[in-house]
Amino acid sequence: MSESVRARIEALAEEIRGHDYRYHVLDAPIIGDTQYDALLHELKQLEARHPQWVTPDSPTQRVGAKPDQGFTEVVHAIAMLSLDNVFDGAEFLQFVERTTERLGATPELTAEPKLDGLALSIRYEQGVLVQAATRGDGASGENVTQNVRTIRCIPLRLRGAHIPDVLEVRGEVFMRRHAFEAMNQQLAAQGEKCFVNPRNAAAGSLRQLDPEVVASRPLSFYAYGWGEVSAPLGETHAAVMASLQSFGVPVNPGLVIGSPDRIETAYQELMERRDQLAYEIDGMVVKVNSLAAQETLGYVARAPRFATAWKFPAQEAATQVIAIDLQVGRTGAITPVARLKPVFVGGVTVSNATLHNFDEIERLDVRPGDAVMIRRAGDVIPQVIRVLTEASATRTAPVSIPTACPVCASPVERASGEAVIRCTGGFVCGAQRLEHLKHFVSRKAMDIDGVGERLLEVLCAQGLVQTPADLYRLTTADLVNLERMAEKSASNVIEAIAASKQTTLARFLYALGIRDVGEATARTLATAFGQLETLMDADEAALMAVEDVGPVVASHIQHFFRAPENRHVIDELLELGVSWPDTAHHASRSDVDLSGQTWVLTGTLETMTRDEAAERLRGLGAKVASSVSAKTTCLVAGSNAGSKLAKAEALGVDIKTETELLELFGL
Ligand code: IVH
Repeated sequence: MSESVRARIEALAEEIRGHDYRYHVLDAPIIGDTQYDALLHELKQLEARHPQWVTPDSPTQRVGAKPDQGFTEVVHAIAMLSLDNVFDGAEFLQFVERTTERLGATPELTAEPKLDGLALSIRYEQGVLVQAATRGDGASGENVTQNVRTIRCIPLRLRGAHIPDVLEVRGEVFMRRHAFEAMNQQLAAQGEKCFVNPRNAAAGSLRQLDPEVVASRPLSFYAYGWGEVSAPLGETHAAVMASLQSFGVPVNPGLVIGSPDRIETAYQELMERRDQLAYEIDGMVVKVNSLAAQETLGYVARAPRFATAWKFPAQEAATQVIAIDLQVGRTGAITPVARLKPVFVGGVTVSNATLHNFDEIERLDVRPGDAVMIRRAGDVIPQVIRVLTEASATRTAPVSIPTACPVCASPVERASGEAVIRCTGGFVCGAQRLEHLKHFVSRKAMDIDGVGERLLEVLCAQGLVQTPADLYRLTTADLVNLERMAEKSASNVIEAIAASKQTTLARFLYALGIRDVGEATARTLATAFGQLETLMDADEAALMAVEDVGPVVASHIQHFFRAPENRHVIDELLELGVSWPDTAHHASRSDVDLSGQTWVLTGTLETMTRDEAAERLRGLGAKVASSVSAKTTCLVAGSNAGSKLAKAEALGVDIKTETELLELFGL
């Protein structure tokens, strides 16, 4: 009887280890959380009744007792080194040249994301985790074994065959962005101090003395190297990584192998993907793939010659707030903006950062003159992430919430439950008028080329233009009277304005600048209602029947079309000749239904822009994608079609000409 209980304990442990491996390493779980928890529960119960059969590497034994004193010291069997850095393509090429010279041939390289966490060495003996240590000064670190045991993705026992007797796995402990945010929210809810970034959170958590607390922190680990090993695991870096993965160790994904050229491309690709990754990275680590070549290259001081970290431009930088200004947007939203002492961050010089709203100012407690940390990630507008209190000794008074619009002095309002404060001035407010016009002429709206922000400012200031309809009343004579406007450019502007009259219903709706009606919603509304009149008279139920339109958007739409001044401007625009093809008519005549299909457009079309063609395809139910894949139903190839056409041909995707497309549209 008891022998069979013992066998059950072993089988359960093995089964759970298998699920851990599938979940954490392969990223392909085959059971859900509930089933997993049931297995763990059964194991815990059996072990509670038969403590003599509990092994230290049982999945139930992750959380141990708190050490009496702090962490003890671990002397690393093999030193944990650091990496040299390169900061641009030229420096990377120098690294390549140096290694090429020393090796007598261009090396094959690997590239992998450089995780922003802290280095860890985990020692396995006979496949069982016996010790884990931080890097420390490289020669010796802290013994964090009890804490590391709580990290769920780190196996307590390795799996598979041919595991060396001694194997030190090295890699990075880090925290995923989502996990970091959730954890901070929880800490805040408990009234505890939050961490400023995932890196600090990972470091702070791993160095907690109480393993129980560490177990509650969502730490992750990826291996990128090794220390002492009693038997070789491969002849290349990539091969060793594959071995580690086969032992059940989670390995840094996204390993690229190739020539220096390939690595350069990988750098660009990784930089573009950077903000979409689930965790923060601060560069790409490049290594010589062959271990024999690595040995030839050797080490200099505390870093290997065979590897380097190609850093990304920093996304965070410290600077100073010069002033906090208030900006009034198109919909009257008053946005506080921090004017900054210019600072180079995320690859550009930044001198403004959005503060979003007054709740955010209060949360950050940011004031003019403060030293702040700002962040610019990808194309995202720069943000103030925190005040550097230590560096902001004498502080100014906090900015107060305005009661009147800073531009037109109309009263402001704050809808209940909203963080945003709005000017109630509408068209009376010069700022809203200008923003509204800028939106109206923008590329995805009426697309009036040649009417930019500067010209609109002048036109508004001179009183020549107040509403979008006024644009269509402008004459060359009006424009040549303006400063620095030659006859030729004046007539170009007038022509561009006239050309914009031919548009689509979706563009027109978007151009109107109805609150919360972005490009996509405008498109859906145009398709659903077909005609402007029908949409203008639609009641709430009819609006809410449209996908993506909820009660808030529906009420904004109704509100907009009910306002006499808006109706008036629309009437004027139509009278002045703004028009679009009658899509309702086409749709009802056509029996074409492209639902479920994915179309891609490439090359130059003669009779319409790609945007227009895409709009019509969407009107017929198709999805329009930007790249060709095996899932593409059809590629429309205009003139000068390039790689997409080649790819579609290679994949055997249906290819249509513009003429065939026009036939499909019934044109
Ligand atoms: S290889 C000989 N690969 O970056 C040192 N390091 O700046 C071998 N790091 O201490 C390190 N991701 O903590 C390597 N894919 C990666 C890495 C990586 C992050 C960290 C590591 C190291 C530091 C050096």
